[in-house]
Amino acid sequence: MNNGHIIELENVSKNYQRGPETVHAVKNVSLSVSSGEYVAVIGPSGSGKTTLMNIIGCLDHPSDGRVMINGREIQDENESGLTRLRQTSIGFVFQQFFLIPTLNVIENVTLPALFAGHKPNGRGRDLLEKVGLANRMHHLPGQLSGGEMQRVAIARSLVNAPPILLADEPTGNLDSKNAGMIMDLFGKLNADGVTVVMVTHNTDIVKRCNRTVHIEDGVIRQ
Ligand SMILES: Nc1ncnc2c1ncn2[C@@H]1O[C@H](COP(=O)(O)OP(=O)(O)OP(=O)(O)O)[C@@H](O)[C@H]1O
Ligand SMILES: [Mg+2]
Repeated sequence: MNNGHIIELENVSKNYQRGPETVHAVKNVSLSVSSGEYVAVIGPSGSGKTTLMNIIGCLDHPSDGRVMINGREIQDENESGLTRLRQTSIGFVFQQFFLIPTLNVIENVTLPALFAGHKPNGRGRDLLEKVGLANRMHHLPGQLSGGEMQRVAIARSLVNAPPILLADEPTGNLDSKNAGMIMDLFGKLNADGVTVVMVTHNTDIVKRCNRTVHIEDGVIRQ
């Protein structure tokens, strides 16, 4: 299965147990993404988009199937190997941001660099400028608007310069001007070779991607 794809899923399923009921969130999905692609994932609420992103982002294990990310077979990795893979290869923009409330904006953005053992290099500051938040560096998340928090989360996802960017509704809370700014940033990153996989409901944004993956009821229809 090592054939140049930066992301490869083979017959991946994910089941969740909710009491006596089994939820089949992702069903036998196979998906290959080449390095440098810009993929939109679309589908109705509850169709399995976040579940799929969490599996690609090595945040969740599949119930069945194989996952290969940036040349690594996920099932062969232990927890520290997976942590390292996430730190070096994947930027993740969560649907719910997950900022740390007691850390200010610049601290939130640079935290993944700290965890990865990188020396301070000013990249966090540059990214905050790029997302239009240079004047919010020392605010706490609770002092920001939803759209500002989303932009902090985007800056944080990019601080380790990952070759893969996974973004779950990254413009969901943004007005058209800020959404446009984020899309320009993603477009530039993609032009520089970053592989982008993004969940979105926005049809204008889908048009900017070079491929669309439809997911419905846990099944991909390409
Ligand atoms: N931890 C969990 N335990 C049980 N069921 C879950 C869990 N997480 C997700 N599900 C279920 O799996 C299905 C897929 O959820 P998922 O979050 O992937 O959908 P989604 O496509 O991201 O939806 P949305 O567009 O609303 O974000 C849903 O039916 C959801 O209720
Ligand atoms: Mg979701």
